[in-house]
Amino acid sequence: MTKNVKSKKFHNSCVVCTCRNVTLGEIVHAIKELGAKDLESIEKLTEAGNSCGSCKSPQHDVGEEKMELYISQILEKFVK
Ligand code: FES
Repeated sequence: MTKNVKSKKFHNSCVVCTCRNVTLGEIVHAIKELGAKDLESIEKLTEAGNSCGSCKSPQHDVGEEKMELYISQILEKFVK
C-alpha cells in the first residue's frame, strides 16, 4: 500500500535514494532549478534511482521494506 505523500511532511534532508544517498532536497532542486521533469532526468542529474531502482516508484520497489517516499511521488507533486 502506498502512503499518501500529501498527508505527511518530509524534511529536505530525508534520504529518498538510499543506494546513492540522495535527499528529497536534492531531488526538488533538480526539478525546480535544473528542470528535471521525469525519472530519467532525475537519475542523470542526481544519480538517484540508478542502482537498485527501488526508490523510483512503488512499481519499481522490489525490496521487502518499502520506501516511505518515491521519486515518482515527488515528480507528481512538483512537475505540473
Ligand atoms: S534506493 Fe535508489 S537506486 Fe536503490
